[in-house]
Amino acid sequence: MTSPFKKNINKVEATHNLAKNEIVELLTNDEINEELFQAADRVREKYVGNEVHLRGLIEFSNICSKNCFYCGLRRDNKNIKRYKLEPEIIIDFATKAATYGYKTFVLQSGEGNLYTLEEMLYIISEIKKLDVAITLSIGEKTEEEYRAYKEAGADRFLLRIETTDKELYKKLHPDMSHENRINCLKIIKKLGYETGTGCLIGLPEQTMESLADDILFFKELGADMIGVGPFIPNEDTPLKNETGGSFELALKVMAITRLLLPDINIPATTAMETLNHQGRLIALQSGANVVMPNVTEGEYRDLYKLYPGKICINDTPAHCRSCITGKIQSIGRTVSKEYGFRKQLR
Ligand code: SAM
Ligand code: SF4
Ligand code: FES
Repeated sequence: MTSPFKKNINKVEATHNLAKNEIVELLTNDEINEELFQAADRVREKYVGNEVHLRGLIEFSNICSKNCFYCGLRRDNKNIKRYKLEPEIIIDFATKAATYGYKTFVLQSGEGNLYTLEEMLYIISEIKKLDVAITLSIGEKTEEEYRAYKEAGADRFLLRIETTDKELYKKLHPDMSHENRINCLKIIKKLGYETGTGCLIGLPEQTMESLADDILFFKELGADMIGVGPFIPNEDTPLKNETGGSFELALKVMAITRLLLPDINIPATTAMETLNHQGRLIALQSGANVVMPNVTEGEYRDLYKLYPGKICINDTPAHCRSCITGKIQSIGRTVSKEYGFRKQLR
């Protein structure tokens, strides 16, 4: 018997639009999951093709002045050895990784004024000389700072909204403001960055309605990249006793996002692989077209501990590169040799 929710999938595959209640129906009914994943895979192939873009992730500092309840890098976590890489080391990691063929780097860290503006501009402009695209994931900054990074060569910025539920956001982010987060995203977009956002799946008290709002928010913002991942409880945070998000639900939110925003870039996130050892490949077959292998070297891979069970902590960038290439080829896809900018529909 055909599921009554199949009509929602047919509709969104053809129109890339769904009402909030239709998204909630898809999220709450698991009998249509396979159809949903297959539809997202078809839309991915039609709009962004079979190439997978690799972004080399450099986790350059785990120091953070914020206190997000879910994150192992939060400032009140004393059970973590903090580090901050020297600019020359960051540039060196990028230089080595560029020789493996990476055309994009993602520079990610905790928040705060860890580096002077001059140091950040130096890091960005030196890495830019490697003929690569640069994505920043360094949190909330002033408009002047965002502008200066852009002028120095940064192309993209990732700032997850985490949740569009204002009350929930407030509970999980002491001394942060939802309004400012949205404002930062608007500034990032206005400045001409490829704008990335996303949410955590399975936060305590998060509802299907609020996840539907998240997906509609991505569309309304006109995001170029969306990263969704399950929330994984960390022992050293106030949310240590929570259940966390499921792989399946994260995959569903990702697949619906692909159906609504057909031409954007969507990573198969590391947190998905933490919950399912084939997680990234399954995600690549359910709407994703990007993977972000870690190119940070040595002990820092382990010290950047957002949640337990992080993958690849004892591997080298060279090993991860060949591992992920093999996996991508095993599902009949190819690794892109391009920068991987969004090719927007007109
Ligand atoms: N500090 C910057 C920020 O918050 O935008 C960038 C780094 S932050 C570690 C990157 C992302 O990690 C966050 O946007 C959040 O969604 C994710 N994250 C943090 N703790 C997590 C957890 N316990 N499980 C899954 N993802 C987590
Ligand atoms: Fe800091 Fe980002 Fe973690 Fe929040 S999510 S504590 S801002 S590193
Ligand atoms: Fe790191 Fe497979 S991607 S070991």
